[in-house]
Order: sequence, then C-alpha cells, then structure tokens
Amino acid sequence: MSAVDRAAGPAAGPAPSAPPTPDAGAARLVLGIETSCDDCSVAVLEAGERLRSHLIAAQDVHRIYGGVVPELASRAHLELLPRMVREALAEAGTAPEQLTAIAVTRAPGLVGSLVVGVAFARAYGLALGIPVIGINHVEAHLHAAAVEHGESPLPMVALVVSGGHTELVAVHDLGRYRWLGSTRDDAAGEAFDKVAKLLGLGFPGGPAIERLAREGNAAAFDFPRPMLNRPGLDFSFSGLKTAVALAASAAGAPPWPRAWLADVAASFQAAVIDTLAAKARRALEYTGARALTLGGGVACNGALRERLARECAEAGVVLRVPSPRLCADNAAMIAHLGARLLQRGLPAADLTVVASLEESGLPAEND
Ligand code: KG4
Ligand code: ZN
Repeated sequence: MSAVDRAAGPAAGPAPSAPPTPDAGAARLVLGIETSCDDCSVAVLEAGERLRSHLIAAQDVHRIYGGVVPELASRAHLELLPRMVREALAEAGTAPEQLTAIAVTRAPGLVGSLVVGVAFARAYGLALGIPVIGINHVEAHLHAAAVEHGESPLPMVALVVSGGHTELVAVHDLGRYRWLGSTRDDAAGEAFDKVAKLLGLGFPGGPAIERLAREGNAAAFDFPRPMLNRPGLDFSFSGLKTAVALAASAAGAPPWPRAWLADVAASFQAAVIDTLAAKARRALEYTGARALTLGGGVACNGALRERLARECAEAGVVLRVPSPRLCADNAAMIAHLGARLLQRGLPAADLTVVASLEESGLPAEND
C-alpha cells in the first residue's frame, strides 16, 4: 500500500513564499453553507466553536425516487438556501453585517447543488465585503468531531462513511493528511441504501436496516467480509450487496417474512461493521494514532459506534464521535473548518466547484 501526503491543496492554500497570516477577526463569526448533495444546511459559528444556529433541511422529494435526483436537489437548494440563511441569522441573533466570513462547500459533490451554494456565498460575501472560503466537504468531515469535542489528540485516524464516501485518513494536522484507504466500488452508505432497496425498505436505507437489524440474528447468514483477508486498507462493498441479492432470490418472491428480513438486515449490517472495524483497527495500528474520529451518515449507526468504542478501548485510543447531526452532511462542520483555516491564516480562496474527491485536491488514490 502506498499513501499520499497532502502538504497543500485548495483548502490549505498559501504559496511557500507567502507565510500564512492568521486572521482571528475573520474567524469570529462565520456563516457556513453546505449544499453538496441533498441536505441544505446553514450555520452561524462564533470563534470556531460556539454554534449560534444550525439548520439542516433534508429534501424529502428524493424518497419517491429511491435515491437522490441531482436536478431536483439543486432546484430545492435554490428554493431553500436564501430562506434558511435568513432564518439561521435570525436564530443566531446576528445581523448580516456582523458576519466576518463565509465558508461554503465547493467540492466534492453534485455539481448543480454545489454551484447553488457557491454562487450564493460569492454574491453574499461580495455584498457584505467579507472573505468567502471554499471548503472541501470530506476534509470538513475529518474535523467535524472538533465542533463538540474540541481538537482530538494527533495524529488521529478519521473514518468517513457516507452515501458517497468510505475513506480512512491519517490526520497529522490541519491540512496534513495521509490517505490510507477508500472503497474500490460502492460506498458503505450506498451498500446500505442498495440492500434496503432490494429488500423493499425504502430510502435512505441505513436507518431502516439498523432498526430491523435489532430484531434479527446477525449469524443467520454468512455474508462475506470483503477484502478482510487481504493486506491494505481499501474497502469493497459490491460483492456483499450481490451476496444479499443471491440470498433474496433463493428466498423466492417477495413479500418476505419480517423475521427473514430482520435476519438479512442483521447479518448484512454485521458484515459491514466487521469490515469497517477491522480496517479502522488496522489503520490505528499502522499509524500509531492517538485517536479515531468518525464522520458521514453511516457513523450515525449505533451498532457501528458501539463496536468502534470497544475497538478503541482495546487499542487504548480516544474515540471522538460527533453527534448524529454533525455526522451527516451539515454546515456546522463547514463553518468550523473555515474558521480554523482563517485562524491559521490558511484561507482557500479557490471557489472552483469540483464533483469528484480525486480532483478536489484531497488525494483518494491508493495502490
Ligand atoms: O453523510 P450523509 O448524510 O450524506 C452523504 O451521503 O453524503 O450520509 C447518508 C448515508 C446514506 O447512505 C444512509 O443510508 C446512511 O448514510 N445512513 C446510515 C444510517 N443513517 C444514515 N447507515 C447506516 N446506519 C444508519 N443509522
Ligand atoms: Zn458528507
């Protein structure tokens, strides 16, 4: 396995000749904007740590289609964002003129959705005469736990597991990351969503599978733990999804009995958790990290959180898990990373919208 050091990227920006100038003033009251996928979120964060307001609007319209429809997501952001900014400012007791900076997600994500957030932030920042910082969404997940728990002991390992990402990253400092592993095919959340769809459990699949799994027997089906017996820290979930599909076709046509569904859900969830936990443990040993942190919607899963708590206790490292609102896509983590970059004098002026993680300035490739 080779890993890639990220010395500087769009979010860590200054040229070597220009030493960073910390700007605590600009970090004082940051408006965070997140529109990278189907959650529209706005936060007002004071001094990098005190959340004055934090709104998240999940777009229900996608449920009808069983997945996020990009065109509908960007239209909904366009509708929601101006109203949510007004509401977040009112709730925070902040006048727009009091804001000192805006932090907005610029990558990775759905391009149409990102464009809505970035265009709004640029215009609003220009009108107010304050800096606008482009934030990498995955980088924000790496630091999300710090919003509630303060900075973790470093180095730490971050496991980001969502509908779009499964990333294991060694965090040495703000802007200094070593990519350890990624998924080779489906993301962990995507596997939950696809299996839930297959079982007729609706969208998003993760919460439905977790609920049903509580009634089931996790040893009922011997689903594969992909790539566990191979060295390295990459993941693969598409084979596991196929194994569930095979079990379903062997069980005949739906409707399936609830007890059978619960056993499949429990066995599938156990396979995902075993895989994530084993790779996280391996990453902790490999890096000698002092802490493990989680991010992404799958990190809301109670069984995963309990398992990782046990692994961390055994390994003698601190586990820092954000509350569910801060695990899923949210603007608090965007504002937080923006404030920290400003405090360090590392503002990323780059507001170019980029869809993929690979092209976003954060390396995701391993071999
Ligand atoms: O981070 P997130 O809100 O959005 C992105 O994908 O960026 O994550 C959503 C994903 C979905 O795939 C959803 O099924 C999964 O997180 N998820 C869960 C749980 N809650 C949400 N997966 C497993 N267990 C959960 N409790
Ligand atoms: Zn996310």
